[in-house]
Amino acid sequence: MKRIVWSFFILTAAMALQAEDGHQLWLRYQPVNKAKVVTEASSPTISIAKQELETYYNGENVTLKLDATMPDDDGYRIEGSTISARRDAGLLYGAFALLRGQYGDSHPTFNLRLLNHWDNLDGSIERGYAGESIFEWFKLDEQLIRDYARANASIGINGSVLNNVNASPKILTTPYLKEVKKIADILRPYGIKVYLSINFASPMALGETKTADPLNKSVAKWWQKKAKEIYKLIPDFGGFLVKANSEGQPGPGDYNRTHADGANMLADALKPFNGIVMWRCFVYGANHKGEDRVKQAVSEFKPLDGLFRDNVILQTKNGPLDFQPREPYSPIFDQIKKTPNMVELQITQEYLGQSRHLVYLAPMWKEFFDYVSPSQLKGIAGVANIGKDRNWCGHHFSQANWYAFGRLAWNPDLSSNTIAEEWLELTFTNDKRFVDSMMRLMEMSREACVKYMMPLGLHHIFKFDHHYGPEPDGFIASYPLEWCPVYYHKANNDSIGFDRSHTGTNATSQYRKDIADMYDNIETCPEDLLLWFHRVPWTYKMKDGSTLWESLQFEYQLGVIMVETMQTTWHYKMRNFVDEQRWREVDERLADQLQNAREWRDVCLNYFGQFATKQ
Ligand code: GCU
Repeated sequence: MKRIVWSFFILTAAMALQAEDGHQLWLRYQPVNKAKVVTEASSPTISIAKQELETYYNGENVTLKLDATMPDDDGYRIEGSTISARRDAGLLYGAFALLRGQYGDSHPTFNLRLLNHWDNLDGSIERGYAGESIFEWFKLDEQLIRDYARANASIGINGSVLNNVNASPKILTTPYLKEVKKIADILRPYGIKVYLSINFASPMALGETKTADPLNKSVAKWWQKKAKEIYKLIPDFGGFLVKANSEGQPGPGDYNRTHADGANMLADALKPFNGIVMWRCFVYGANHKGEDRVKQAVSEFKPLDGLFRDNVILQTKNGPLDFQPREPYSPIFDQIKKTPNMVELQITQEYLGQSRHLVYLAPMWKEFFDYVSPSQLKGIAGVANIGKDRNWCGHHFSQANWYAFGRLAWNPDLSSNTIAEEWLELTFTNDKRFVDSMMRLMEMSREACVKYMMPLGLHHIFKFDHHYGPEPDGFIASYPLEWCPVYYHKANNDSIGFDRSHTGTNATSQYRKDIADMYDNIETCPEDLLLWFHRVPWTYKMKDGSTLWESLQFEYQLGVIMVETMQTTWHYKMRNFVDEQRWREVDERLADQLQNAREWRDVCLNYFGQFATKQ
């Protein structure tokens, strides 16, 4: 009898191993059904916490306790076998922490920890590389959304913006809002609020007003009525995310009004319900046409600082250009002092090999926090990399970026290595031989990407539009210059790079004094941002004595070697640690990545070589 039970167990375990397709993410716990959970409190959230622990926790007893003396809303304390929190969401976060084997006090740094989905209503996803949207309007897969909510709750994410920042006005029509309500009802017990991106001209686009001028009374009224309708359906609705007067989107500028006029009108509509407006600073090519693109956000928003309502938050990408593999931080964070700021990170790898490259993004995000203190920020948003692909993110290792975003949103002091280790153990195995090697590879993967794509501060030399692969020679006369790679590197027979120092566009002056001085001086500017800030002769001597051209060749070559290391390690050394399907899928993608890294190196060095070797 015993033997039968054992062989049955081994058989199912083996089947489970084979069946791994990544859908379970980092939540691969096997049911043990052992723990008894005691609690006096009750709510749908607490029921979920209880169920998670009773099903998966390996200990005997757990007590869940609501404790009004806890210092914040979402934090928790795990002491012995008791989890305490002020709110039920804190108990749920604590339950997931306990399942990960984490104890003690833990409090989130940011109150707003949001995913931004760039999902369109037709199911497509802007810059999405993992299949169609999980939000299937009018035919919602409730279980899928529940799984999504659970994954988010397990890492502390507490808000989801459901739709693309290039928003369709239709999202605000009643049939869609009823669907939004259904999603909100599923996410709520997991501590997640729903937010929407809105099109600034919605009332006009829907034919309900004649204008979208924010100072027009009928427009303001329309938004107030709309807010009322939303909150009737979704009492805890979070608020709006707005992309206005940016890349063709409508905005207050269309009526000679400022961003503050626009944001405040919406803020007033949401205020009675405690809603917020997240107003994006990603603007260029409108009011400050012709100015260095990386300067335009500060030029536009600094004069407005202090003019926003208190429920407006400015949301800005980490860098001043557009989610490049390496950018300096955005100087908005030095310049906007009276208005709350949020940072927008991009989890989906638009410019980092999409879902074909293994690039672990936590080191890049940590670099941002080296310069911008979390205490300056009210919240953090991550542009999601989630779609209907079975493994959610297209690449199994892209799941690590979703995970890392959540963990850093909770605690930006965690090291990228700590997060990688946690994720590897949960997602694959805790065998040290696997974890140690893969931690090293993950940690170097972002630097590898920078090197094989755009070392030494090069930027925006991607193939037009889809942004996968190199196009350093890109120039299309009919496009704005800011979309053409040649504008960004300006290579000629003497030099390469964009002079943003005081002798050039003076973008360096937008930074706080010590940083401005550091970037402005070619001697003190970090070499990994050299060509971002300076125009440099090919023969310029780098710190190690090599010429700029030699260094550029070295960096491209090294980037490829790093990917070769990643690929050979996975291919020859990791097979025994990983179930067949996931091993094979990662292996195939690494082969793709290596091919693409070589293409980057060859195309870029051939192109730049035409100039550099004319010396
Ligand atoms: C990038 C991206 C667009 C996106 C935009 C934004 O430019 O390529 O697809 O809409 O950023 O953040 O608004």
